Amino acid sequence: MQFSAVFATLVLAVSARPPTMMRLKATADYSWEVTEWTATCPNTTCKYDFKIHGTENLAGNPKKPGFTARCAGDIEGSPYRLCSLEDDETNTRRVASKLLPATSKSANSTTARIQVSLQYIDLDTDSSWWNYTGHATTRYTQTPLDFTITPDEIFGVA
Ligand SMILES: *[C@@H]1O[C@H](CO)[C@@H](O)[C@H](O)[C@H]1NC(C)=O
Ligand SMILES: *[C@@H]1O[C@H](CO)[C@@H](O)[C@H](O)[C@H]1NC(C)=O
Ligand SMILES: *[C@@H]1O[C@H](CO)[C@@H](O)[C@H](O)[C@H]1NC(C)=O
Repeated sequence: MQFSAVFATLVLAVSARPPTMMRLKATADYSWEVTEWTATCPNTTCKYDFKIHGTENLAGNPKKPGFTARCAGDIEGSPYRLCSLEDDETNTRRVASKLLPATSKSANSTTARIQVSLQYIDLDTDSSWWNYTGHATTRYTQTPLDFTITPDEIFGVA
């Protein structure tokens, strides 16, 4: 009881400055390239695999690190699954993807909806980070597809 009260006070003191949350307007001039997208639903359980690349942009505000990652996962509506980074960049970044529930449930629908998120430590300020989210509507196919995802939601925490 005594200990936890002291601990609670310490925690409060350390986190006295509340983090500032910033929401930015997404712009169409920044997007990610998806390549080698394949997705199938053998059984009713759908699964997917793709590569994604974002080009470094040091002129933008905020600056954006480059990244190349491979993402894979399954089951429409499941939580984010982390993608594996496949590049030599040293910035701290994390990429995750999830398969969204199909909007059209018609028996023959091959529509697949994928959501991707990129989170990274600000390139100038270690204590800040940014989180970008984008979606694409594509389809279940064994023939690899390429398409673009333009992030539509950006927020940062400083
Ligand atoms: C279909 O689902 C069953 C049960 O979940 C699983 O054992 C089997 O491996 C699946 N088949 C394929 C082709 O994924
Ligand atoms: C599904 O495909 C079959 C065969 O191609 C077709 O006869 C049927 O109308 C389709 N159903 C829907 C809901 O599109
Ligand atoms: C971005 O933020 C969302 C909402 O908090 C979170 O669910 C997601 O995991 C974050 N993205 C990454 C790559 O961590």
